[in-house]
Amino acid sequence: MKRKEFLAQVGVGAAIVLSPICFGSLSGCKKTSTEPANIDFTLDVSTGALSKNGGFLIKDGVIVARTNSGTFIAVSAACTHEGTNINYVASSNNFVCPNHNAQFSSNGAVTQGPANTNLTEYKTTLTSNSLRVFS
Ligand code: FES
Repeated sequence: MKRKEFLAQVGVGAAIVLSPICFGSLSGCKKTSTEPANIDFTLDVSTGALSKNGGFLIKDGVIVARTNSGTFIAVSAACTHEGTNINYVASSNNFVCPNHNAQFSSNGAVTQGPANTNLTEYKTTLTSNSLRVFS
C-alpha cells in the first residue's frame, strides 16, 4: 500500500469514527449559541397554553409566558448554564431550570446560579388575540 492510499483510508476511517460525535451532538464539535437570533413570530393566544394566566410554551428557542397578571413575557428558552430548556413558574413570576435549578427573573436576569449569564429578552405586542414575539 502506498503512503497516499494509506492516508486516504485512514482519513476516511477517522471521519466515520468522528462523524457521530460531530453530527450527533453539535456541541461536541463546536459550541453553538443558545440565543435565537432574528426572532419574529406570532402566536394565537385565544387557545392553548397562552390562553390562561400562568401558561407558557416554547417556540423557535423562545419561551413565551403569560403572567398571572395577564401580560406576556418572552426570553430565550435554553438555560445559559448547559442549555436545558427552562420552565416558567407563574407563582413566583420567574424562570427555573429543571436541570441544576438556576433561576432567572421575568426579564431573563440570573437570580440564582449555577448559570451566570442572563437569558435574552424578547419583545411582545398583543393585537387582538395575536401575540407578536420579536427581537
Ligand atoms: S443546565 Fe440549567 S442550571 Fe444547569
